[in-house]
Amino acid sequence: MTLQLRGCKLTAMTLQADNHPTPQQFTVQLLAPYKKHLLYGMASLIIVDVADIMPPVILKYAIDSIERGQDFATLAWCGLALLLTAAIQGVFRFFWRQFFLGTSHHSVYDLRKAMFAHLLKLPFHYFSRTRTGDIMSRLTNDIQEIRFMLGIGILVVLDASFYFLTVPFIMMWLSPRLTLITMTPFILIPVMVVMVKNSIHNRSKDVQARLSDLSSRAEENLSGVRVIKGFRIEESEISRFNRCGLEFVRDKIKLANIESLFHPALDLVVAFGMVVLLYFGGNMVIAGSITLGSFIALESYMLKLSWPMMAIGWIINIYQRSMASMERCLQVLREPPATASDQPQTESNSIGAAIEVSDLSFTYPEATQPGLKNISFKLEEGQTLGITGPVGSGKSTLLRLLMKMFHPDSGQIKIGGADAAQIPLKNLRELFAYVPQETFLFSESIRENILFSQENKDQPEVARSFADRAGLGADLRDFPDGLETMLGERGVNLSGGQKQRVSLARALAAGRPILILDDCTSAVDTETEQKILASLRQNTRRSTCIIVSHRMVSLQNADLIIYLDNGEIAEMGTHQQLLEKNGRYARAWQRQRLKAELEKS
Ligand SMILES: Nc1ncnc2c1ncn2[C@@H]1O[C@H](COP(=O)(O)OP(=O)(O)O)[C@@H](O)[C@H]1O
Ligand SMILES: [Mg+2]
Repeated sequence: MTLQLRGCKLTAMTLQADNHPTPQQFTVQLLAPYKKHLLYGMASLIIVDVADIMPPVILKYAIDSIERGQDFATLAWCGLALLLTAAIQGVFRFFWRQFFLGTSHHSVYDLRKAMFAHLLKLPFHYFSRTRTGDIMSRLTNDIQEIRFMLGIGILVVLDASFYFLTVPFIMMWLSPRLTLITMTPFILIPVMVVMVKNSIHNRSKDVQARLSDLSSRAEENLSGVRVIKGFRIEESEISRFNRCGLEFVRDKIKLANIESLFHPALDLVVAFGMVVLLYFGGNMVIAGSITLGSFIALESYMLKLSWPMMAIGWIINIYQRSMASMERCLQVLREPPATASDQPQTESNSIGAAIEVSDLSFTYPEATQPGLKNISFKLEEGQTLGITGPVGSGKSTLLRLLMKMFHPDSGQIKIGGADAAQIPLKNLRELFAYVPQETFLFSESIRENILFSQENKDQPEVARSFADRAGLGADLRDFPDGLETMLGERGVNLSGGQKQRVSLARALAAGRPILILDDCTSAVDTETEQKILASLRQNTRRSTCIIVSHRMVSLQNADLIIYLDNGEIAEMGTHQQLLEKNGRYARAWQRQRLKAELEKS
């Protein structure tokens, strides 16, 4: 009887920014779809627990009948009853495990899925201010804590509650007076619970934050391992990592300290109860006011109560830890997703690919200097725009604004005549094929990387034709498995230039109306670059192209060239016009020509 796999039960609706559930409310939301399973689990648990609290009473009858010297038949029935309770427990323990633990896995699966889907919808600036390791830690360590609570945690809460709600009454039935006397020490427990609750919560939060630090540091060091080795700073990075590790251990020990004080304190209370019972109960048996059977039964119920007593400490601990973790997951879910415009959806292919930018200005959220100032230009559908300028002049920033990765502070972008601010994000992004400055390829085959945006990735011929257009044809023949060569962790490493061309092929294969190349051929030699651009011009005649490059030869055929400097358009025009102007563009052009000739000779 296993739970079947379900789809994600959490819709985006329940997680919207205006709906701020507390960690507790959110836990309920997570469990809601599995109500039925939890009920089955609870039923199984009750059956197990009823079977578990029977034996002392059965034992009482057996002992009392021995004392009275009664017939053997009662003893036999008692023996049979004991066997039966053991068998019932065995069977239903299996079911409660299935239902409770199964539910915990499924709820956490829903949560992880919701978080991941949400993360992919978050705007770019979230990722520039959040460390990958921190996100990873929330997706793994924190979710693990939550799963523990939703599975074992709930089970133990219900189990302990059952004992608290039944055992004292049975004890009262056996002997009200003795029960009242022995239970007095237990009043201490709620007091102790209140005392430690908050400090466990706060220290758990510290521990999880440290774990995030540790993951982030490991992640950054491993992705930047080449830089670290290049600068020979392994030793200092190792000691920095160790410091993080030590801080984690220190906080973890602080948490363990509270826990290790709390548990023995609970044990002490139970032991104290036992002593009281032995003294008063023993006297009562001698005085004949209760039977020996009742006394033994009381003694074993006392022992049975000691487990839920311990469980209280344990539950508080995992509850506080999981709520601290839930809060960290909620922080991610509360991040507002990149805003999609509320306007009615326009078909993206009905939007043209002409671009008109007027008086655009923009400053990065945390920056003091504006990234772009008063940018205006106009590009017809199918035209090519070249952008050049010094490093940091705002070339990539301009592209990011066009693709609505950031919103302009003032000015307007029109795409196909429509205000870009009014075009829904999804439709707008579908217009662009983007080759970023930093190439990123997935650890998959070259074919899968090229056909990344395609539904059907099983079209080697299509992939090959785009690879050829991106100037990758000759390289493919040198790879061990051609198109099927695996990249990254599980396969080969490409050179910078090869990576750029795979990235270019991927953009071409997307077949979008606007192609954006952000200095994406910088690691390719000039000759290959010229060939790639020539083939691009042939094959993308209908697409609007925006090409950012440091190499001005690459831009000379563009319909419009912008020379950016310090976020402003310093010069703009065709290659010919800019040369005639004899300004900065012309000077940079001369310099590059001279350099190329020197290199040739
Ligand atoms: N995410 C960011 N947050 C703040 N400032 C940024 C960010 N990205 C780039 N900048 C700054 O904006 C300016 C333009 O950057 P960029 O457009 O990347 O230049 P280019 O592509 O021309 O080399 C630079 O001064 C850079 O430091
Ligand atoms: Mg750039």
